Amino acid sequence: MHHFFYHDGHMFCEEVLVSSIAESVGTPFYLYSHATLKHHFITFNKAVSDVPHLICFSAKSNSNLAILKLFASLGSGLDIVSGGELYRGLKVGIPPHKIVYSGVGKREDEIEFALKSSILMFNIESFQELEAVNRCAKRLKTRAQIALRVNPDIDPRTHPYISTGLKKNKFGICMNEAKEAYQAARRLSHIKIIGVDCHIGSQVLDVEPFMDAFKRLKRLIEDLQSTGIEIRYLDLGGGLGITYDHELPPHPNEYGKAILKTVGDIPVTLIFEPGRVIVGNAGILVTRVLYVKIGEKKNFIIVDAGMNDLIRPALYDAYHAINPVKKDKDATFIADVVGPICESSDFLAKDRRLPRVEPGDLLAVMSAGAYSFTMASNYNSRPRVPEVMVKKDQFYVIRKREDYEDLIAGESIPEFL
Ligand code: LLP
Repeated sequence: MHHFFYHDGHMFCEEVLVSSIAESVGTPFYLYSHATLKHHFITFNKAVSDVPHLICFSAKSNSNLAILKLFASLGSGLDIVSGGELYRGLKVGIPPHKIVYSGVGKREDEIEFALKSSILMFNIESFQELEAVNRCAKRLKTRAQIALRVNPDIDPRTHPYISTGLKKNKFGICMNEAKEAYQAARRLSHIKIIGVDCHIGSQVLDVEPFMDAFKRLKRLIEDLQSTGIEIRYLDLGGGLGITYDHELPPHPNEYGKAILKTVGDIPVTLIFEPGRVIVGNAGILVTRVLYVKIGEKKNFIIVDAGMNDLIRPALYDAYHAINPVKKDKDATFIADVVGPICESSDFLAKDRRLPRVEPGDLLAVMSAGAYSFTMASNYNSRPRVPEVMVKKDQFYVIRKREDYEDLIAGESIPEFL
């Protein structure tokens, strides 16, 4: 099902002409399809429906309130990594008993906020964090429900910056220290062990690494249970990849089958933390061509969106397809698509064959629903762009374009100046 498509050479999102949104809100802007978001969530949920489970959508991939609210209405919980993400989740009514808190660097004020909110569990990543959570829980006269994030030392064969389950990564507790860590957790007065957690990496394109990791976790759970530690939740993290270019990631159904084969028979509730697979291909970034520079060595299409709006190409050399919003040119050329930022790494595409565009033309940067707006910054004092959601024949601005006042809000000049 494609909710971004062409009709008579014009790009539509559901029933709305993409160019008409550009006329109304200006460029650049992020655009999400409500039907795609919903369809992806429901497809993933169905794919794992043979096992007792909870989906905790990974807020870091896209944390716009409207999007979180949509998933909340479909029964989703939330995977958070900060007090800010917890605040967003609570704001849209995600039930606290469906919130899991991951991340290697939780501060005590954030831990206390989560304890006061009665979240489901903390995914603990180190011995010292375990002690910090115990300390906070004691202070608040409560007990913290926890899982330990174990590091199964599996190579997910993805980009080194987004693989997280290897021994050399900063995440989690090594498999061979896990039992000791669980025994340590057991001795802490204000800790209640309820789960085991892992996350091997992101944009994973095969089921094998998942299966290898999950088998190791199953063994760990059996070992723990033999020492009297009861595990009620197994959190399998996120990581399922998507198609940006020609990748062929497993369909959620295939992932679901791998789950059944590996951990389907353990009497626990499985937790999933998908991000990219739900939102990645539900969003695009629409940008306008400012100038075209034909060079001796290279051609450049200079657009009004930059690396501050979408940093993935600059940061990971990530590929995002770029399509014209109006297919009105037959001639093509090879060019870099670059932004207005004063950095050579400010590009959205390199050496790409594209229609011979002209100033004023609109381009759509595809697969920009995940880790796109959430990683945007104000670098070069550029106001962050709006986010728009289309539902059927209507569109809604779900985050307004920042203005110059927003840029300086919070700054102050000391009196001595
Ligand atoms: N759970 C945990 C503990 C995570 O660290 C992540 C992602 C997820 C779930 C969701 O993973 P997903 O299903 O989206 O793959 N900025 C990078 C991706 C970083 C991923 C970080 N962790 C990018 O733009 O590709």
